[in-house]
Amino acid sequence: MRVTCIGHAGFVIETTGGTIVCDPWFNPAYFGSWYPFPRNDGIDLTLIHNADYLYISHAHLDHLDVDFLRGNVAKTATVLLPDFGVDFLEYALRQVGFTNFLRSRNEEAIELDGELTVAVKSLAAPHVGPMGDSLLLVADPSGVVLDQNDAHPSDLDFADQFGSVDAHLLQYSGAIWYPMVYEIDDEQEASLVAAKRARQTERALGYVDMANARHVVPSAGPPCFLDEELFHLNDLPDGPPSIFPDAPHFIAELADAGNDQGRLMVPGSVLEIGGDHDGQLVHSVSDQALHEPFTNKRGYLESYQADMADVIAAEHRSWPTETTDLLTTMARWLDPILEIAKHTRAGVAASVMLSTEDGLDIVIDMAEGVVRAPHDNEHCSFRFGTRRSLLESSVQRRVEDWCNELFLSCRFSAHRDGAYNEYLYTFFKSLSMTRMAYAESFYAAQLAETDVSWVEVDGWIVERNCPHQGAALIRFGTVCENVLTCGLHGWEYDLPSGRCLNTEGVYLKVRGPVEHPADD
Ligand code: FES
Repeated sequence: MRVTCIGHAGFVIETTGGTIVCDPWFNPAYFGSWYPFPRNDGIDLTLIHNADYLYISHAHLDHLDVDFLRGNVAKTATVLLPDFGVDFLEYALRQVGFTNFLRSRNEEAIELDGELTVAVKSLAAPHVGPMGDSLLLVADPSGVVLDQNDAHPSDLDFADQFGSVDAHLLQYSGAIWYPMVYEIDDEQEASLVAAKRARQTERALGYVDMANARHVVPSAGPPCFLDEELFHLNDLPDGPPSIFPDAPHFIAELADAGNDQGRLMVPGSVLEIGGDHDGQLVHSVSDQALHEPFTNKRGYLESYQADMADVIAAEHRSWPTETTDLLTTMARWLDPILEIAKHTRAGVAASVMLSTEDGLDIVIDMAEGVVRAPHDNEHCSFRFGTRRSLLESSVQRRVEDWCNELFLSCRFSAHRDGAYNEYLYTFFKSLSMTRMAYAESFYAAQLAETDVSWVEVDGWIVERNCPHQGAALIRFGTVCENVLTCGLHGWEYDLPSGRCLNTEGVYLKVRGPVEHPADD
């Protein structure tokens, strides 16, 4: 088996049963904010053109690059589809021209030709990624590869089914707008960045322990930011730390934790698994060029930025310049969606203000379920500020998932009075009747659940899975001073009440402390 890095979360896995292309991403994403890092625009695309299988882990635009797929992957390729509750990914790929789909069932092995076996673990929920994320496990007689990309499952138990994992490809860096877009001072931001970096490293190290692979390949980010207005988001050696540390940084942290299996792969690097060259890692560039993106990052990015100047300018020119009656258009579009969003609106439980630089304010009134103009001096607990042109673009195109474009672009500012609210972002991912119906049915099913299974975590009996994204608390939970912390994303729960300390309206079911028999 041979694993070739094609940049970011993209890999080509050559096996005895054919070639699988995973998450190829080449075009800037999110209003031209994210670019692949290190750059992959010069690599040989032959392997990709002739792929037998295509695997897109989820619909985020740095994984689902439809413009690239349209022209660069043979439409005879069979798409390995995750088992999501919605078919947006399949729909997008059909639009591009793919017609052969192999629908996986969560974690189940699929035997393909040439002794190739795959299994896809699917995380299907409205709040997970763009309504679903997934992991791919690939095995042939020479080895096993686990492509975790940026998925955050509660465990990796399914990865044992083909024997031990040889290569584990996983995310370790950030891929979100938090905390940079929040209206906070530099000191607060620095402290939140430090906490987030520590959490994401700890999470990745936990996954590395679970998979226990011979080769650990940091991947799926970070992107880089070439537009001048976002350049400060890059993690530069001579600047303040950001949530986007680089692969060598993670490999060093891995080594500090006693694991020397970290492998640096950049676009064009090839890792051999099995056979005469087992474990051989070959790069397509010189040793100096391999390390330059990291050791001379500012210079590397400035040169990349100069090369992309026309692309950056074209992106800006593509944004609408004419203003329209956004209030009326948004009300016509979103009011029917708000009407069916009973659970989502109850979860947000506050109004949302959208503002643009030219003085436009629009309120999404969650209590009344309408989009309207603000009242005099109205205060909204959630506020977003963005460019008028980006709001016009999102509305004109009826973008159904604003997380997967406007928010990941980081071209906005945000304020919230209280804690993070998961329902709010589910709302912004569900801007169509189909999407909202799915989210609502998911929440309704959750509420109807009566069978709770319990586990003991540090002397407390609590429900088995974290209410955030289902982490197994027996593995990720720790208790300190009556607060349970779930290590997967760091959410905390006050145990006496069960109340989540990070977001409104979320509760952990808690039976209470373990009762030990009194000593005689
Ligand atoms: S699953 Fe995200 S904090 Fe627990």
